[in-house]
Amino acid sequence: MTATRPELEFCGGNAGTQYLIFNMSMPSSFRDSETYFDTVIEFLCSYSWIYREANVACIPSINIMPLEFKKYFLEISNEKLNAFPYIHENISDYPSELCSFRQQLSILTPNLNSPKTFDVMRNNRNHKGLSTKKTQEIKQLAAHIHDHCANTQVLVDLGAGLGYLSHALYGLKPDCLILGLEADMARVEQARQRCLRCLPPDAINSIRYLQKFVSFDSGSYIDEQTSELARNNGSLDRKTISIIGLHACGDLSINAMHLFLKMPRVQCLHIMPCCYHKLEVVNHGRDSDAKSFTNFPLSAALGKSVKKSFKNPFLNRPFLRLACQRSTSNWWRDCTEGAHKEHGYRMYMRALAEAILNSTEFVKPRKSRFPVASYPIDFFEIKRRFQLFSKESGASVEWQPSHENMFFEISTMYTDQEGSMLVEGLTCLQAAMQKLCENVVLFDRLCFLKEAAENQKLTVQVRYETLFDEKISPRCQVLFAEKLF
Ligand SMILES: C[S@@+](CC[C@H](N)C(=O)[O-])C[C@H]1O[C@@H](n2cnc3c(N)ncnc32)[C@H](O)[C@@H]1O
Repeated sequence: MTATRPELEFCGGNAGTQYLIFNMSMPSSFRDSETYFDTVIEFLCSYSWIYREANVACIPSINIMPLEFKKYFLEISNEKLNAFPYIHENISDYPSELCSFRQQLSILTPNLNSPKTFDVMRNNRNHKGLSTKKTQEIKQLAAHIHDHCANTQVLVDLGAGLGYLSHALYGLKPDCLILGLEADMARVEQARQRCLRCLPPDAINSIRYLQKFVSFDSGSYIDEQTSELARNNGSLDRKTISIIGLHACGDLSINAMHLFLKMPRVQCLHIMPCCYHKLEVVNHGRDSDAKSFTNFPLSAALGKSVKKSFKNPFLNRPFLRLACQRSTSNWWRDCTEGAHKEHGYRMYMRALAEAILNSTEFVKPRKSRFPVASYPIDFFEIKRRFQLFSKESGASVEWQPSHENMFFEISTMYTDQEGSMLVEGLTCLQAAMQKLCENVVLFDRLCFLKEAAENQKLTVQVRYETLFDEKISPRCQVLFAEKLF
């Protein structure tokens, strides 16, 4: 296997934007999704110790870190630490086990460039007060929808929030009808107020916001509401629909895919997913690290690879959390030694506090943020920084000598700054893996959409496009699907 770039193509949009066509979420060195997922799952099984525990509980992860990794992260220079997560650069200059880790990662992870930052709408009155990030997202996605939905007459914005996306779309497609569905009533109210305040008076005939929790079977509700919107607007019913959503979190983006497949009137789907870790757990239990999700794995392709594997790849909540963390796009490269030290110190300290609890207790950091103290960390530091609570009563309780004993047991394993340095090494390994984890989640969805369309005998075109500058907006890929006739 050799590392190659996926096929990329820059496109200019009609609305003066530029985005990357990302034709596949699979590096081009792989023939098919089955081989790709099999190889990824094998890799994840071998390195699940890097991500399978929540970071607050990472002491077991550093305990089982292989010796060569430990040695490397205890001796590493700041420059090398900063370079490590950039897996597509400088592949061979590492001790053998780390070299192999990076090499495998570079083969499995698509190497993408984001579009450059573009003109932000700082002076646009309707978007006053919005961050550069939000402004970029709204402008790029609205332009993309505008460019690709020339024949669509109704846009259904799922998880419409405060209505920013639909307002931008109204500016681009004033003759289009827009239905914004949002679960949170307070946001619906704010979206309606913004509409009255910022858009021309006529807009209230074409934009409607409704409070609705959208599920995979909300199709008839959407049909009814869009028909009513058309009637009120004085236009003909049976219009074609595009389903859209900016940062449709958790299961909402999956529900959008189901609606696209099920509803005959829906022609296009433009959905930008986020917050993968909020996916619904199958057993609805209270265990936040539960391993089984209703919508992940979603595709038969990934499901098969997971089943085939003899080991557990731990596609659990910490995996999903890593998948939706910031990518390394620019922040890691320039991280100072002081910043690494402080991060490692705080994370190790938090993990220590967690590791000495018994199963009936939990801790919370105390309110004031104490400055980083000197090494070695003592038990007094833990008591000063964390409040202990009983899970049963929720009341605060006192630290006990048994906690202190446990603390000493762990502290003797990692003397001086070793614990913090290894924890920072673990973070570095996670940073290197983040893109692969996200790719597994996104590619699984793309495969599912293709499989489901095939089962329904629908001809669809489906792909991801990188719409945003990743340095500003880490969740930058839109899943674009279109029914072809
Ligand atoms: C990350 S916010 C994005 C809001 C908006 N699209 C934006 O970009 O400004 C996600 C929104 O989706 C809403 N949401 C989540 N799940 C939903 C569901 N199943 N049905 C309707 N709204 C949902 C949340 O209440 C939240 O407002």
